[in-house]
Amino acid sequence: MKKILVLHGPNLNLLGTRQPEIYGRETLEDINSGLYERAALEGWEVSCRQSNHEGQLIDWIQAARLDGTAAIIINPAAYTHTSVAILDALNAFEGRVIEVHLSNVHQRESFRHHSYVSLRADGVIAGLGSQGYRAALEAVMSRPG
Ligand code: DQA
Repeated sequence: MKKILVLHGPNLNLLGTRQPEIYGRETLEDINSGLYERAALEGWEVSCRQSNHEGQLIDWIQAARLDGTAAIIINPAAYTHTSVAILDALNAFEGRVIEVHLSNVHQRESFRHHSYVSLRADGVIAGLGSQGYRAALEAVMSRPG
């Protein structure tokens, strides 16, 4: 089966109650279940994972190199702005990479304007809330390679 990995970085487990004026009221479970349903309709298998730990995210990216994953949709959260290690892991992954941010990071504090992950991402979506994940999913399903 065609596989997509969706990775959520630190603090995204708190979605729904974490600064809802910025990140919305949907929970991570709401977002993930929408992705599972949509992907299944097109015959894709989506695996959604969240971690507050950089090394765990890297382990999942490394595993995706070997298990036939076609694309990674990633919201690295605060690691976006700090993690050369996540960038390096993504650089070793050969499929498509789409970076998603719920908020428009460019409208926020200047430290959020730089993304290491964008150096690797094939596409970047910011500011569309949970719709951004859906848009990323549609993009990779319509053009996986
Ligand atoms: C975020 C933006 C990041 O700057 C922040 O650290 C997050 C979430 C977003 O989805 O808007 O945790 O990636």
